[in-house]
Amino acid sequence: MMSAGDFALGEKFLQTMQCLDCHAMSGDGSVADVIHAKAPNLDLAWKRLREPWVRAWIQEPDIVRHGTNMPPYFTGLASGDLRGQPLAEAQKLSPEQAGAVSQFGRTVEQQTRLLMDFFVRGWREGLYGGC
Ligand code: HEC
Repeated sequence: MMSAGDFALGEKFLQTMQCLDCHAMSGDGSVADVIHAKAPNLDLAWKRLREPWVRAWIQEPDIVRHGTNMPPYFTGLASGDLRGQPLAEAQKLSPEQAGAVSQFGRTVEQQTRLLMDFFVRGWREGLYGGC
């Protein structure tokens, strides 16, 4: 069971990474413009997608689907780290920015776990008000 606190943190992480600049979601008050969305609506992603696929996708989208516009948030390619890297390392954030995102976890596993729990487990367990 995912706690409401972790769900809220996951949502904040999603907003911090500006996933909704391209994707649309509904029901959370921070909805992107559905008509002009540049990427699939994530409302039903938790029903359609398997977690291992999502984990690989958010780390190395261009390997999963070459030429995609989806940015590689947790990529480990530059350093040859197949496990990926935490957001701060992958995106070469400044120490100040890195400090701000450390609330979402310090390792790539903690960060991707939080994100996937937000939009896979959290929604399945009914924490998402829009469903
Ligand atoms: C610059 C635009 C952009 C941003 C920002 C973006 N994505 Fe995407 N995303 C895409 C595109 C485009 C696709 C569809 C794949 C394709 O057509 O290449 C996609 C696909 C996906 C999918 C698969 C959806 C499905 O139903 O098949 C998931 C899950 C996803 N993105 C999650 C995220 C998350 C989480 C973030 C933030 C960490 C994010 N995306 C940020 C562009 C974006």
